[in-house]
Amino acid sequence: MGAALAVSPALDKAQAATRVAAGNKTAPAGDAKAAAITARRTLGTGKAAFKVSALGFGVMGMTYNRSWHPDKKQCVRLLREAMDRGVTLFDTAIIYGPLNNEELTGEALGEFRGKVNVTTKFGHEVINGKATGRQDSRPATIRRYCEESLKRLRTDVIPMFYQHRFDPNTPVEDVAGTIADLIKEGKVLRWGMCEVSPDTIRKAHAVYPLTAIQSEYHLMHRDVEKNGVLDVCRELGIGFVPYSPMNRGFLGGDLNEYTEFDPHNDNRTTHGFTPEAMRANYRIVNVLQRFGRERGMTAAQLALGWLLQLLQVWLTIGNKRQ
Ligand SMILES: NC(=O)c1ccc[n+]([C@@H]2O[C@H](COP(=O)([O-])OP(=O)(O)OC[C@H]3O[C@@H](n4cnc5c(N)ncnc54)[C@H](OP(=O)(O)O)[C@@H]3O)[C@@H](O)[C@H]2O)c1
Repeated sequence: MGAALAVSPALDKAQAATRVAAGNKTAPAGDAKAAAITARRTLGTGKAAFKVSALGFGVMGMTYNRSWHPDKKQCVRLLREAMDRGVTLFDTAIIYGPLNNEELTGEALGEFRGKVNVTTKFGHEVINGKATGRQDSRPATIRRYCEESLKRLRTDVIPMFYQHRFDPNTPVEDVAGTIADLIKEGKVLRWGMCEVSPDTIRKAHAVYPLTAIQSEYHLMHRDVEKNGVLDVCRELGIGFVPYSPMNRGFLGGDLNEYTEFDPHNDNRTTHGFTPEAMRANYRIVNVLQRFGRERGMTAAQLALGWLLQLLQVWLTIGNKRQ
């Protein structure tokens, strides 16, 4: 079992971010500036096992929740460049956009299915292309979402289908049973869940083995160390994918008290990114920058490297570190 990171590299910073997983190895001569992602991790165990690049690529911010969006051609180019540099795990969801993030990912990577894995997520209700704010993980809805995602992603199989959020109106056993059927039918290869409790993980895993849990985890948000999620992943052999590994860009050092977010397309405004909070917390970035300066590393590299190392420890020996 292992962990892979769902990170969204900035267009002009992709090289810095990709270096982390590569352990600072650079690509062969002739492409001296490029970094290669060589590290691999296996998420899940047994029939749920999934070998992926240690550093994944979170596609969300290219169309959703991150204020400014680069133009589509640039996004397609960057996604393919990430693939060329060795990223094999790309992360999207139906709700991102909604829908246009899957469409972008399908356009960029659909023709490379088999070589790369695009994981996606169902659960947030989307009607006529609009989010309703409700959850809908009823079996018939999962099936419909699956068919629609396959079309948008331009593929015939989803390498890993996550439940994006727990649906209080649908027993988790029904969700797991539906996914098991989709796996039997060859439409989905593996499954995962996001932001769920250890109890829910146990119930779901008993019906069909989970490959990965995806929850928020970074230097400034360490709930999964305390709420039993990493412990249950280790016990059951389930992988872990930490999302927002740079706290939505903050740990990279480019956000500060003067940063303005688009209130219509940036959820950081609802995640406590006030000027006061950013001013107070910037000292965390300063510590990373100071530590990195003497070692030739950026704050972003340190934030990702910390996660890559720590998760290995948590998922193998847990909190019995001495
Ligand atoms: N399962 C879930 O519920 C869930 C929730 C949220 C996210 N996710 C997944 O996690 C992925 C990543 O999440 P995220 O975008 O919230 O967080 P993140 O990876 O912590 O932050 C991404 C931002 O960091 C900045 N950045 C990237 N590389 C940098 C570098 N080298 N130096 C400085 N800044 C750098 C970029 O900002 P700029 O481009 O603005 O410069 C980028 O938009 C998403 O794409 C999605 O796949 C999943």
